[in-house]
Amino acid sequence: MNSVKALVLSGGKGTRLRPITHTGAKQLVPIANKPILFYVLENIISLGIKDIGIVIAPETGEIIKTTVGNGDRWGVNITYILQPEPAGLAHAVKMAEPFLKDAPFLMYLGDNLIGSGLSHFYQKFLEKKPDAQILLKAVSDPSRFGVARIDENGQVVGLIEKPKKPPSNLALIGVYLFSPKIHEAIAAIRPSWRGELEITDAIQRLIEWNCPILSEVIDTWWLDTGKKDDLLEANTIVLDEWIKRNVQGKVVDSIVSGRVILPASARVKNSQVRGPVVIGEHTIIENSYIGPFTSIGHKAKIINSTLEHCVLLDGVKVENIERLEDALIGRNSKVLKNNRLPKALKLMIGDDSVVEIP
Ligand code: G1P
Repeated sequence: MNSVKALVLSGGKGTRLRPITHTGAKQLVPIANKPILFYVLENIISLGIKDIGIVIAPETGEIIKTTVGNGDRWGVNITYILQPEPAGLAHAVKMAEPFLKDAPFLMYLGDNLIGSGLSHFYQKFLEKKPDAQILLKAVSDPSRFGVARIDENGQVVGLIEKPKKPPSNLALIGVYLFSPKIHEAIAAIRPSWRGELEITDAIQRLIEWNCPILSEVIDTWWLDTGKKDDLLEANTIVLDEWIKRNVQGKVVDSIVSGRVILPASARVKNSQVRGPVVIGEHTIIENSYIGPFTSIGHKAKIINSTLEHCVLLDGVKVENIERLEDALIGRNSKVLKNNRLPKALKLMIGDDSVVEIP
């Protein structure tokens, strides 16, 4: 077998994560202060794959390139492939054909996080050499995804994208392995009702051609981080499972308990921080309580406030807020309370923002 390449899809408009994605790519939104895309790349690199293509969109391609680089930091080669319009996952593979050539490849959606490594899945592919290998996960809302039709022996007999009446609760998760046969299947499909060339339809075509397909149902968590609540949940799980205590920063008259990451440049004064919590470089916490499952970015300032289960990006300032919960706050935003009269809510918020007031 040719050596296996990887293709990471990192285009798309991120409409469901607006306004955060007005100014950045959804794949770069941090989970526990690390961009989602980095978890994806590290998962791929841990399999020993050295040749990685990243499909980018014109709107967010540059920021992805500058953030990720050419792969030197991981000892791998990263090639960028422009997909001029969001015409579907199978279209992205088409754009990547000059990079993929006739190599088998792992395809990974750049905004998907899964709770386990892929080595077992990958080894099986190397051994059995199917034309496609997919991962499935039981979900409560299958019509949001590609869904598998299963026969009485548990074999996948069909796949359908975003069905109104799902034939099962098994969703296709955003990690696939393909032989070069997939290119023929992609050449044989037409755009779907949403105007996209669907990878699901291409795999369905392989099934119709009786090509060998393998599937596996995973029981670890999987998150498609496309929406605020999914993102907060991803943050909670990652903090819960992967964070180890590392307190280097200055702690003055404060209690910092449990699994907390506090870098040397950050400072906590007269406060309580209860892990799991991640705090970024040069961030200051004063007279505050930071509760579990909170990630605070770099150069943020939290003064006289209580926070729990929040994701705050870089440069955020929160001051005099009694209780902030389940919040996702974009870069350099300020959430402040003043006691000036008349009492009123004063807002300056960007497009597509949400403000919930008790
Ligand atoms: C895509 C795939 C779908 C898959 C999902 C996983 O959906 O088309 O089959 O279940 O990713 O995240 P999209 O994100 O394009 O709606």
